[in-house]
Amino acid sequence: MGIQDCRILDLPKIDNPSGNLTFIEGQRHVPFDIKRVYYLYDVPGGAERGGHAHRELHQFIIAMSGSFAIELDDGYQKKQYHLNRSYYGLYICPMTWRVIDNFSSGSVCLVLASARYDEADYIRNYETFAGIARKDR
Ligand code: TYD
Repeated sequence: MGIQDCRILDLPKIDNPSGNLTFIEGQRHVPFDIKRVYYLYDVPGGAERGGHAHRELHQFIIAMSGSFAIELDDGYQKKQYHLNRSYYGLYICPMTWRVIDNFSSGSVCLVLASARYDEADYIRNYETFAGIARKDR
């Protein structure tokens, strides 16, 4: 897997004058079973999140409110995304280094994940990540 496997996925949107509705089903709208949900909020201006990769974890990130930037890196190529709507998100495949920054005030970053929290799945050193990513090819 590489950066070409990470992509924006559109979500169903039920438009209604009384408010819109979006839903997400595992293995249907995102390419994995959803085992965990977490969210970042009250992020101070100028903060940077992420700065790590996951060995096995699949994730899907949505800007539930506001906006932020995500930079992906598979050890070879980098790609930038800007998320600012709650009816689409970014699928991030395993072995992708990600940095999330440029959070707008009041933004909420929702993350769907394919597994429960496991610190052993993280790679928090970029050189370690790049070494493994390049060896895998
Ligand atoms: P981390 O994933 O490093 O945050 P980010 O990528 O947003 O910068 O997690 C920050 C801390 O929160 C870390 O100590 C682990 C803890 N944590 C959990 O306990 N459970 C979770 O599901 C997540 C995502 C993090």
